Amino acid sequence: MLDAKLLEDIKSRRTFAIISHPDAGKTTITEKVLLFGRAIQKAGTVKGRGNATHAKSDWMEMEKERGISVTTSVMQFPYQDCIVNLLDTPGHEDFSEDTYRTLTAVDSCLMVIDAAKGVEDRTRKLMEVTRLRDTPIVTFMNKLDRETRDPMELLDEVESELQMMCAPITWPIGCGKEFKGVYHIHRDEVILYQSGQGSQIQEKRVISGLNNPDVDQAIGDDLATQLRDDLELVMGASNEFDEELFLSGELSPVYFGTALGNFGVDHMLDGLTQWAPPPKSRQSELREVSSEDEGFSGFVFKIQANMDPKHRDRIAFMRIVSGTYTKGMKMRHVRIGKDVTISDAVTFMAGDRTSAQTAIAGDIIGLHNHGTIQIGDTFSQGEALKFTGIPNFAPEMFRRIRLKDPLKQKQLQKGLIQLSEEGAVQVFRPMRNNDLIVGAVGVLQFDVVVHRLRTEYKVEAVYEGISVSTARWCRCDDEKKLEAFKNKAHDNLALDGGDNLSYLAPTMVNLNLSVERHPEVEFLKTREH
Ligand code: G4P
Repeated sequence: MLDAKLLEDIKSRRTFAIISHPDAGKTTITEKVLLFGRAIQKAGTVKGRGNATHAKSDWMEMEKERGISVTTSVMQFPYQDCIVNLLDTPGHEDFSEDTYRTLTAVDSCLMVIDAAKGVEDRTRKLMEVTRLRDTPIVTFMNKLDRETRDPMELLDEVESELQMMCAPITWPIGCGKEFKGVYHIHRDEVILYQSGQGSQIQEKRVISGLNNPDVDQAIGDDLATQLRDDLELVMGASNEFDEELFLSGELSPVYFGTALGNFGVDHMLDGLTQWAPPPKSRQSELREVSSEDEGFSGFVFKIQANMDPKHRDRIAFMRIVSGTYTKGMKMRHVRIGKDVTISDAVTFMAGDRTSAQTAIAGDIIGLHNHGTIQIGDTFSQGEALKFTGIPNFAPEMFRRIRLKDPLKQKQLQKGLIQLSEEGAVQVFRPMRNNDLIVGAVGVLQFDVVVHRLRTEYKVEAVYEGISVSTARWCRCDDEKKLEAFKNKAHDNLALDGGDNLSYLAPTMVNLNLSVERHPEVEFLKTREH
């Protein structure tokens, strides 16, 4: 049995990530969340804003800024009675694999929607990923200080497009220049908005009771009447908050506000810390591991290179599933079967890299990685656990990579395999020749790989076009049938960085034909590490 204090500490953890479409306001909300977590004094100090634009314009530029921006990969701060771990996800869609894997390390998500635009593409995609694990979702409708769409219509859109029931917790009073604040349905309070105070925590005027005459005075008779009418409609037409449905990922509490104006973010945080689940258990091949289990365990969901430009280190981000990390402890690196002493893990309290003394279930720690740690690796206190569910996604773009100096083939191969183990890119070696084919989910990954090959592995490489349009991992439990398939499909088969059999299809038509011809083989779009 864990002692009561530790149990309480575990239950106080809230580990979440933000999902949104670029420009919906993720960076701005992060900043305001940190402001409320007292991790920063004044908004406007979080660097790495607008990752997406940087990524689009020039990766090298991003590299320069990386030392700063990636330290905000994980941010830990106290809020109310909770310790919150906010995991950042790359803004640019070319790094979406990283984002997907980060979503395996959280227990809940905040979905930010631009209230003028509604549900957008990337949000849709990310929601598909959260659905795999029924992750509870809190929704924030942002940018109410601008002209927005009708709030009821926004809820309808979330319900129909994302198949997620909505339960409004606050309701907006006007929008754009007429934005006056929100009515907090659960607290029966009107909270008034004042513009121009976005950079700090503001004292807000709160009026208790919807029917309080002060409301009419504060927002005007017309808006007050409309608000009461709207609410009657909303209460009749929308769902009530239901904790069970929220925890099973079927219903989302919805908040309205403006991140820029720093209004409503605290209501959302109150809801998130109150309702979002404490560290959940995780499935391993052996058994389900609960956050209340005593022995230490965790899995690596992301590896990041060059966190600090002065030290060319890589950091492996590990989500602790159970137990306690203490400085200098021994952990079993399960895949390679070795015990390692970890004396210098980093935590991310308030965005700074500091040496962690202890960390518990729900927390993220960073391990210095000298090339032995891979995405998906499990660490334990001796038990041969292997956590499941950390995905690789079939790449959608392919290029052949060629060396400028042919004598460096070994380094190239080593570099590519290491980068693929990190999840930076995927590499395929066709069975019929000695080509090396790089597969990526986004085009920017190609540039990153060539740059890193040059700086970290001292090889100059260039790309050539290749007619591969998609890849699938192949699985067949019947050895004989697998051999027959290998012979027949030989020309299209390859091994990936982890020696897994893959099918490289020149066209979708070709893929569909092969799938039809070989019903004994599974063609998989995702593969677990
Ligand atoms: P992202 O990380 O999701 O990509 O979005 P980010 O926070 O960078 O916000 C995108 C743009 O939207 C920024 O403007 C930001 O200031 C603005 N924004 C965020 N929240 C609100 C809000 O509540 N109201 C209004 N009116 N705007 C908001 P930008 O012009 O692209 O950047 P900047 O020059 O302001 O930094």
